[in-house]
Amino acid sequence: MEGGGDMGLMEWCRELPKIELHAHLNGSVRDSTLLELAKDLGEKGVIAFEDVVHVIMKNGRSLPECFKLFDLYHLLTTDHQTVTRITKEVIEDFAAENVVYLELRTTPKKNEAKGMTKCSYMKAVIDGIRAVDTVDVDFDTSGTSNVNCSEATPLNCIGSPIKRKKIYVRLLLSIDRRETTAAALETVNLAMDLKNFGVVGIDLSGNPVIGEWQTFLPALKHAKELGLPITLHCGEVPNHKEIQAMLDICPQRIGHACFLVEEEWKRVKFLKIPVEICLTSNIRTERFSSIYDHFFADLYKAKHQVALCTDDSGLFSTTLSNEFYLAASTFGLNKDEMFLLARSAIQSTFADDEVKHELTKIFDDAANRLII
Ligand code: IMP
Ligand code: ZN
Repeated sequence: MEGGGDMGLMEWCRELPKIELHAHLNGSVRDSTLLELAKDLGEKGVIAFEDVVHVIMKNGRSLPECFKLFDLYHLLTTDHQTVTRITKEVIEDFAAENVVYLELRTTPKKNEAKGMTKCSYMKAVIDGIRAVDTVDVDFDTSGTSNVNCSEATPLNCIGSPIKRKKIYVRLLLSIDRRETTAAALETVNLAMDLKNFGVVGIDLSGNPVIGEWQTFLPALKHAKELGLPITLHCGEVPNHKEIQAMLDICPQRIGHACFLVEEEWKRVKFLKIPVEICLTSNIRTERFSSIYDHFFADLYKAKHQVALCTDDSGLFSTTLSNEFYLAASTFGLNKDEMFLLARSAIQSTFADDEVKHELTKIFDDAANRLII
């Protein structure tokens, strides 16, 4: 008999400890926060509130519509204080879903009008991690150094006497496909500077029909030389020249991979590149006409390393618990299989061995409750 007692599947998926490897900060913002920010900017006359409400609340979105929406999100969230706020809220939301390890990615942004540099943007993100007070956050193991561009505040106190939820948070810095080679290099160097502040790798994301691979390659090569792990948004559109070039650099992970063809899958399998799978995102942006056509089942059957992820939980109104529920109910995985799937993502994190060991212990403890 399966474990988990009388728990319904959705409740069980919520209870399951989970590892989130593909979540964009600005795509994970609560609708209620976006509405509040839009109202505020509306009152200041910066935007017309009535024009943006229906955009924020709309559910079905094509891929081009998503990128238009990101421009709106960035308009709403572009100041240090708001970046700090959304970071704090996003972490609390993931922790509430029993995500025990979150690799949160975000694009460091420059905004002269707000006195924002890529570094000060990241400082605001780091302040947001430190501001979390409803759960314990393991964020920076060194805890002694300061972010160079400005003074850092002390670390949140870890280990309160009351047993609270705990979440490991690590950061990936994203290169946006709209950026220049110089801007991409700046992001990689910043990631290196912030290694003691929980930054564990680099991501390439943004509108997949914008930008040339050659523009980002020098920065990605530089990241490799520096020993920074890389994950790429790969094959979001059927650009096979780019997919092949991406696989040539042997990234540590890839995300989406919707339009890979057989030969490309063979290489991904041969190179053992873990794949971040975002079911709701892929369906909402119409990469597959039906969820049953999704490649998840093929990779799962082939025992290839996959991790279920949300991509943009705010934008797509999903949670990681929901992604597990969707996988279980669509592809017929039982609780034991779901548990192993969740636990196997530990191997694909960019965290150090000590954290991986701690995560394994968390899953071992949960196994008694959930599957035995
Ligand atoms: P941010 O990096 O925190 O600002 O998160 C939003 C950004 O993530 C967007 O502007 C895109 O560059 C990127 N992003 C979010 N979802 C996707 C996706 O599905 N494909 C490619 N890029 C994405
Ligand atoms: Zn993404």
